[in-house]
Formats: sequence, C-alpha cells, structure tokens
Amino acid sequence: MGKIYFTHDEIVGRPKLEGKDPAHVHFHFRPARPADLCVTLDPDTGEVNVSAGTLGPLTWNPYTMCLHINRNDSPDSYRNLQRTDECVIALPGKDIIPETWMCALPLPRGISELEVAKLTPFPSRFVKPPSIMECKVNFECKVEFFKDYYTHGIVFVRVVGASIDEEILEWSREDIVHLYPTFEVDDIQNPRIKERGIIERLGVIGEIFECPSFPVGPKSGWGGTFETWMRDLRDENYISQEEFDKIIEIKKRYDNLFYNSVSKEREKVKREITEICKMIAWQEWDRLRLFLSNI
Ligand SMILES: Cc1cc2nc3c(=O)[nH]c(=O)nc-3n(C[C@H](O)[C@H](O)[C@H](O)COP(=O)(O)O)c2cc1C
Repeated sequence: MGKIYFTHDEIVGRPKLEGKDPAHVHFHFRPARPADLCVTLDPDTGEVNVSAGTLGPLTWNPYTMCLHINRNDSPDSYRNLQRTDECVIALPGKDIIPETWMCALPLPRGISELEVAKLTPFPSRFVKPPSIMECKVNFECKVEFFKDYYTHGIVFVRVVGASIDEEILEWSREDIVHLYPTFEVDDIQNPRIKERGIIERLGVIGEIFECPSFPVGPKSGWGGTFETWMRDLRDENYISQEEFDKIIEIKKRYDNLFYNSVSKEREKVKREITEICKMIAWQEWDRLRLFLSNI
C-alpha cells in the first residue's frame, strides 16, 4: 500500500480526494482531543461564562495545561482569560453530551451557559469561578501565560486545586474511562441541511490495551535511563554481570564517538547497540546471549 502526501494548505482546507468525503479525509489530521468546559468570570460584570473547549497537557509537576481559544468564535472566554487570571477546567462525561454542546452555543455576553444547559454551579475552593456539579472532575486553575498565536489565544494554566466526585472513587478504571474524559472526535454532515450543516461528535475511550512492561523497558516504565534498564535486567537475572559490563562498555564507546559521524567504529557500535536493544525489546534472550558472546 502506498502513502498519500498532502501539503499544509490541503490539510487545513479539508483535502479533496476523488470519490472521498473531504470530512472523512480531514478527520485523520485532527486526532481526538480531550474535551473540557472552561468556566471564567467576566472582568467587568463578574458574570459566569462557560465554553466547551479542548485541552492539552503541558507539565505534570507543577501540573499545567494548555487551552487554545479562538479569538473570533470564543470572544467571552478569550476576554475573560486574558483579563482575569483564573478559570475552572471541568471534565464532561458522556452522560452530559448535549449539555457540553450547549456550552458552545453563541450566547450573548453575560448569559450563562450553565443556566441554559441546566448545569449546576458549586463553589470552587481556590479560585473565584464556580465548578460544575455534573462534571466528575473540576480543576481550579490560575492563568500563567497568554499569547496571541495566529487565530487563537494560547493560554497556559496552572492547576492550584481540584475536586472529584466521591462516588467515582468506588468505580473500576474501565467504567470510568468509558464515561470520561470525552474527546472531540470529528464532525459529520447534517443530512437535514444541504450546505455546510455540521453535526459535532464526541466519544470516550473504547478498548484499553496494556503496553509491554519490564523486561521491555526499565522496571519503572519508560522514565528511566538506558543504564537503569540494563541494571534492572542484570538484577533480575535476564543478563549476567559479564553481559551487563559488556553492554555498558559498548554504550560508553558509542557515547565517546557520538559526534564523530564519519567514524566506521561509531557505525559498528551503533549497529551493536541497536541489535542488543532490538533483541531485548522482542525478548530474544538466547540470541542476545550468543550475540554478546561473539562481540
Ligand atoms: C467539544 C467542543 C470543543 C471545542 N473546543 C474549542 C476550543 O478548544 N477552542 C475554542 O476556541 N472553541 C472551542 N469550541 C467552540 C466554543 O465552545 C464556542 O466557540 C463557544 O461559543 C465559545 O464561546 P465563548 O464566547 O463563551 O467563549 C469547542 C466546542 C465544542 C463543542
């Protein structure tokens, strides 16, 4: 099967391929993204505004996230986030899809989406904007960075606190991920409207798959170093002390030659390390032993 290439302009303009629905092709270039409800206060009146949005993770400690707010289409959130320094990021579940959509309605400034969507505010503990009762998780956040970027305001927020529904703590992990987070998945053509009629679609995580774990990677997961990984393999008797020493020695030779791109020796040790990693990743222990004994 061949690959089909697109330019940037084709990607953003919904690629046209003969016999294919442009939305169907476009979908591949906008992977599902976690949906949120962003609660802010109007800087002039103190009135509550909520908008549906999508978020991206930034750092885990401190816990920060990124919002992208369209300057024209989301004027209330854009203004409120720029001029106040607080928001609540609430995570909607699949039990409130219509309500989530209603928070994207173009309501006049000052009209609360919470009221229109029949959602219930409750006091936040660390910030002034309220949290949303029907959302299982509410993050209370401070705005730390705001920058206009092409069509959007890019907003970095730091989580200063959060609340979680007590009942969810009793649920299995599988039941939870089938309820939330919801993701903005795609949109489809509304069959009742001829031109540019769009139906937005949200989804939740379907199947959950376990990734490989130790000995494919360090015991701690993917966070460690190559050396930690090899040490873990030695400590758990996947490789001997002698094999460990040999691997570390090859790695040292590789490190010393790293910037010497014309060196034949670099090419050789790079190939050796690649083979070693490949055999460990696919758990070919007999082959690894033989390979190391021949180096
Ligand atoms: C699931 C979903 C995700 C959305 N994500 C964003 C987003 O990330 N940024 C944005 O500007 N608008 C997004 N929108 C559209 C806004 O919710 C919509 O423009 C809304 O009217 C904003 O109004 P505001 O003026 O109250 O901020 C999204 C809508 C939906 C339904």
